[in-house]
Amino acid sequence: MSENRPLNEAEARAALDWYRAVGVDFAVVEEPVDRFAASVTPSRSRPAPSSPISGPSAVPVAAPIALSLSADPSETTAIAAAAPTLEALRAAMEAYEGCTLKKRATQLVFADGNPEAEIMLVGEGPGEQEDLQGKPFVGRAGQLLDRMLGAIGLDRTKVYIANMVPWRPPGNREPSPEELALCAPFLLRQVELVAPKFLVTLGNVPTKALFQTQNGITRMRGQWRDLTVNSHRTRALATLHPAYLLRTPASKALAWRDMLSLKQAMEG
Ligand code: URA
Repeated sequence: MSENRPLNEAEARAALDWYRAVGVDFAVVEEPVDRFAASVTPSRSRPAPSSPISGPSAVPVAAPIALSLSADPSETTAIAAAAPTLEALRAAMEAYEGCTLKKRATQLVFADGNPEAEIMLVGEGPGEQEDLQGKPFVGRAGQLLDRMLGAIGLDRTKVYIANMVPWRPPGNREPSPEELALCAPFLLRQVELVAPKFLVTLGNVPTKALFQTQNGITRMRGQWRDLTVNSHRTRALATLHPAYLLRTPASKALAWRDMLSLKQAMEG
């Protein structure tokens, strides 16, 4: 491609398809910014912090783009603890401006289902459809989840569903550890307020976060554990994420076993 020629329509469409495929689906500012040029221009307002590895020959590090807002989990912990009901918690989360995910999401995806339910399911974070509709698990993975629940006599009137992060991570990437740490107090408070008898984590991200383990989902799934979430004690089961099952149908047998185990626990 020649250096300064504007893209023709086909090239522009191909570039947009490429951006979308790699998760760039949102314009942060109106005009493009050349970050390569920015990285060689020393920032006046924000000098780069001195680093133990920086010396006379160290490559200058560009100051990070000021995207991160106040991201302090002690703040979200205090906000969540102050919410006496789910409605109050939802309102507090709607008002919270400290998470960058919110800036790029269409809306808050708080929860779906029955707050009186004995069973609570926790996923990772909203995808495209969830972001548009404002409800968790309404895309393809959600439809599979509904079928899994239906197979053991459950539907959304009998379960409560929420996610570790309530705003869609751009391009459906995994939430970062910082985003998880910041949003976890909201989810923990939701668990405490719903006070489910059984809690089911869907996939790696909520499993690692709630069981506080580095073990992956393949090791963790299928076994019941006691879990204390804030002041609430519950029985918890990890199972495979329905999006993973869509990609790996051979694993559905394992998820089926987990669903049967949940059914037995409910009846027991
Ligand atoms: N995947 C999730 O983890 N949560 C949703 O709400 C949808 C897809």
